[in-house]
Amino acid sequence: MTGTKQIRSARGEVLPQEVAAKLNTIPWYNLFTSLPDRPLPPSSQRAHIKTARLVLRPLDLSDLEAFHSLRTQPEVMAKTFRPRVDRDMDETRTLLQSLQPPNDGNSWRFGVFLASTGELIGDGGVYNFDDLWRTGWPELEFMLRKEHWGQGYGKELIPALMEAWFNLPRSGVRKHTLHPNAIGELEPGDELPDNLAIIFDASIDAARKIVDGLTDPKPDYIADWEQIDWREGKEFMEITLAGWLVANPHGLDPYRTETGYLSDRTDVEDNEKE
Ligand SMILES: CC(C)(COP(=O)(O)OP(=O)(O)OC[C@H]1O[C@@H](n2cnc3c(N)ncnc32)[C@H](O)[C@@H]1OP(=O)(O)O)[C@@H](O)C(=O)NCCC(=O)NCCS
Repeated sequence: MTGTKQIRSARGEVLPQEVAAKLNTIPWYNLFTSLPDRPLPPSSQRAHIKTARLVLRPLDLSDLEAFHSLRTQPEVMAKTFRPRVDRDMDETRTLLQSLQPPNDGNSWRFGVFLASTGELIGDGGVYNFDDLWRTGWPELEFMLRKEHWGQGYGKELIPALMEAWFNLPRSGVRKHTLHPNAIGELEPGDELPDNLAIIFDASIDAARKIVDGLTDPKPDYIADWEQIDWREGKEFMEITLAGWLVANPHGLDPYRTETGYLSDRTDVEDNEKE
């Protein structure tokens, strides 16, 4: 392990290697749920999503300049998962290419366009369905150009994304590994509908208001918590995050298959990616 980054505690001291190693050994629990099938449908097959004033559609290479313009607004990027603007057009192009077939099976990401003008004003979705590192659940992310903040677009965007995510095809109930903090009173071997996590910098007041105000389905507020920041350029600082879990309103039953019942579900895990 020589040459790896030093791990520091919340107070800033360097942790001994064996203590740092233990931080990565919290056991996660196996429960049963039904997540969207992998790989996700190719972007060419994803239905466009319409709200009163917005059209959401997968981004393509022709969106490069508008996408770059969005991703170079410092106010927009400052509190996102990679909290800096794109370095140059090439960096945005590389990202956009990663969202095109055949590379798009682990991302479910939509450009947000004004229905009235066709202008690209944002981006939202599940950016990485393969790496469910934080809770075990996929996470919803979203951003809008700053000129369009405060006009209710976020309140249209977020429920529309949630509804479409919960309507993606799911085949069967499978074993899935979840962080103990994400399962409440449940125990290993229990079953639950799949959840979408919404976790962001606790200081983003507009996003908090939106998520707190949703009713159908109603997100379950987890907490505000402080942790070490792992994001680029912020490593080892402290950050306060706020988090919610939204349970699939369709429940688990629509996705049960014959092989999805408790009696034989242990056979299914070998086919799962995680
Ligand atoms: C978060 C974001 C998408 C919100 O979108 P938005 O379109 O500005 O939000 P809305 O206009 O729908 O407003 C939602 C609510 O927040 C309120 N609000 C808007 N801006 C606010 C602000 N700066 N402070 C406090 N409340 C605010 C609105 O009044 C509204 O509340 P109401 O329902 O009581 O009227 C947008 O601010 C953004 O893109 N931020 C940068 C990217 C980001 O941080 N994303 C979140 C992390 S994944």
